[in-house]
Amino acid sequence: MLSPDQVREKIKTIIQLPALPAIALEVVDLVDNPKTSASKLGRVISSDQALTAKVLKIANSPFYGFPKKISTIDFAIIVLGFDALKEIVISISLVSSLQKKSDSHFDSKAFWDHSISTGVIARKLARDLGYRISGEAFVGGLLHEMGISVIHRYFNNEFNRIIDITRDTDLSILEAEESVLGLTHGEVGGLLAERWNLPDHLKEAVSMHHTPTLAQLNPDLVALVHCADIIAHKLTNQVLDFDKGVDFDPQALVRVKLDDPNVLNEYLLNYSEVLQSDIDQVSAFSGAKGQVQ
Ligand SMILES: [Fe+2]
Ligand SMILES: [Fe+2]
Repeated sequence: MLSPDQVREKIKTIIQLPALPAIALEVVDLVDNPKTSASKLGRVISSDQALTAKVLKIANSPFYGFPKKISTIDFAIIVLGFDALKEIVISISLVSSLQKKSDSHFDSKAFWDHSISTGVIARKLARDLGYRISGEAFVGGLLHEMGISVIHRYFNNEFNRIIDITRDTDLSILEAEESVLGLTHGEVGGLLAERWNLPDHLKEAVSMHHTPTLAQLNPDLVALVHCADIIAHKLTNQVLDFDKGVDFDPQALVRVKLDDPNVLNEYLLNYSEVLQSDIDQVSAFSGAKGQVQ
């Protein structure tokens, strides 16, 4: 059996570990630079035809709610803003890099439905709370399970053992991962985020989505993603192998102002319909449910 250090080493040295496409890195850099003009960003995105087509498809999805057809990248930047564009480009790039086929231990559709739902809910929670960067909450939610993709793809025997344990015993996914790998899917996702040079707060949201009280950089973002994750489970009423046995952290609920059980229940009731329509729209833009085409 591999020791946790060996697993860490292996993750760092896996050369096939998907790299974030260069164009996505360039866009993220440009958006982060206050001197970047809309036309410069437009030129960079437009230089990649496939990316341009996907960005326009998403920009025109009802999720962004713009009433007129957006037919050029320049127009998309003006009406949606830099941050939304950044969010769209990162999401497209990462989801494409991490796509995997289903097998007896991994349901790809359930995985992406859960990831998209968590992103949508995190964004909604963020907006309700007046949290400044709702786009980050969406990306954090979308990516929170990326460690599962890595374990499934690069530690497949261990992944199957972990899932068998969650199916055959009362152990939670985190306990099963600790016993087989010595580290959890959160930590594994954090290692990939490091390899991809994702912003530190996003790395923290991924690596600590099941341990939100340990967050130091941006505890609000981590709490948002954590609560959105659990709300996604509650709203879809599905027990997913890769999140078996996880539940709300009481302190994270306080941070997102849902610690009163009545308020939480009301939230779940009131928003299930709204969220479902948002989730359907996001799933629709990503093509055949969970697949970015
Ligand atoms: Fe999750
Ligand atoms: Fe998880």
